Amino acid sequence: MEKLIGRKKIAVFISGRGSNLKSLINYSKTKKSLIEIVLVISNNELAKGLNLASKYKINNLTISAKNKKKFEFSALRILKKNKVDILCLAGFMRILSPTFIKKFSKPILNIHPSLLPKYKGLNTHYKAIKNKDKFSGASVHIVNEKLDSGKVILQKKIKIIKKDTPKSLEKKILKIEHQIYKKAIIKFLTSF
Ligand code: GRF
Repeated sequence: MEKLIGRKKIAVFISGRGSNLKSLINYSKTKKSLIEIVLVISNNELAKGLNLASKYKINNLTISAKNKKKFEFSALRILKKNKVDILCLAGFMRILSPTFIKKFSKPILNIHPSLLPKYKGLNTHYKAIKNKDKFSGASVHIVNEKLDSGKVILQKKIKIIKKDTPKSLEKKILKIEHQIYKKAIIKFLTSF
């Protein structure tokens, strides 16, 4: 059996497709991985990422509570029960409350499709093109009480070309996201 001693226990929160989750699973399966994904939680029972978690036999569940307090209360209980060291948000479309962040008391990381601090929140690709930016990219950051505002761990940028649309940019940046999430986790665990 694979030796997992020393690997950090990671939980991933998702809301949809789960392609970033897939990139983290791929990394966690490598020999030198520093992480083990022990739990996937979705706030949406239709999230495709849940099937992925099941495929890789990762404990997964949906907490469908529309009420944020209820969602967070249940999630916290499960995170603690599973002794999770780091929570990674990957396409999780809910903002966590300051109370949750405080009570969890372990690091929470997020991946965001822009060069933070530019374009916090939604529609980042549309905004980058509308503002005629020369570059865009993706950032992995520590989650704090303010939306997309915590310390950036790692960023990667790409050139925006004339014929880019929000869709084409989204596609290119998603590829970058898949490269940097694992790198950011390694950086966070080894040099932060
Ligand atoms: C990604 O672009 C992520 O940065 C954003 O939502 C998207 C989720 O994609 N927050 P996936 O579910 O990981 O495929």
